[in-house]
Amino acid sequence: MEEVIFNIRRFNGINSYWQRFKVPVKRGMTLLEGLYYIKENLDGSLAFRASCRMGICGSCAVRVNGKPMLACETQILNLKAKKLDIEPLDNMRVLKDLIVDFDDFFKKHEAVKPYLIRDDVFYSKPVELLQTPKELKEYYNFTLCIKCGSCYSMCPAASTRGDYLGPATITAAYRFCADSRDKGKNERLEAVSGTNGVWRCHFAAECSEVCPKKIEPAKAVQKMRKSAAGYMIKKIFR
Ligand code: FES
Repeated sequence: MEEVIFNIRRFNGINSYWQRFKVPVKRGMTLLEGLYYIKENLDGSLAFRASCRMGICGSCAVRVNGKPMLACETQILNLKAKKLDIEPLDNMRVLKDLIVDFDDFFKKHEAVKPYLIRDDVFYSKPVELLQTPKELKEYYNFTLCIKCGSCYSMCPAASTRGDYLGPATITAAYRFCADSRDKGKNERLEAVSGTNGVWRCHFAAECSEVCPKKIEPAKAVQKMRKSAAGYMIKKIFR
């Protein structure tokens, strides 16, 4: 057993403060298990989010020594630090301790209609929408986003403009625009080509750096910029 200090930035609704906990750590123990250790043995009032414990639900993202990561997928000893500064995600309102408000994040997703748009939807007579492996490859990697908010937390454009749609939302827009079965490209390009859209990206690429699913949101944003530029030129000369 090794002892690691969990230095946690807490928030009680009024004040923000740091609190240190000594956590006994054995090989293989995850950051999330460390947080549960604190909650069960040292301070039951510590608040954090988690659900699946297997990197699927996207609930447990926190910042550790300044970098966002999934607590359930991060082994404490792999961080190679005797003291970990653990904070809630950035660019979102903190509700309590490590829990942030995702309402705005998901509202932004809604704005780009992250679902297949078709003009031939007859649920009584469902049809099979065929797609080649090459067409699937165009967008498949971007379907792996678990909406954990890590990219948004690290985005310098989101920290200067609260209304910026952000990398996760634009990635969701690209995922559907690049889908050969979709017919809603123009609606999404309209949504991302406004002043809070793709032009806000500084291309710092921090989003791709921290994405726990290695999705490369920065690449999706650049692809959407290109499409948005074409869309706007067409609109002007229409
Ligand atoms: Fe679901 Fe970590 S608990 S991703």
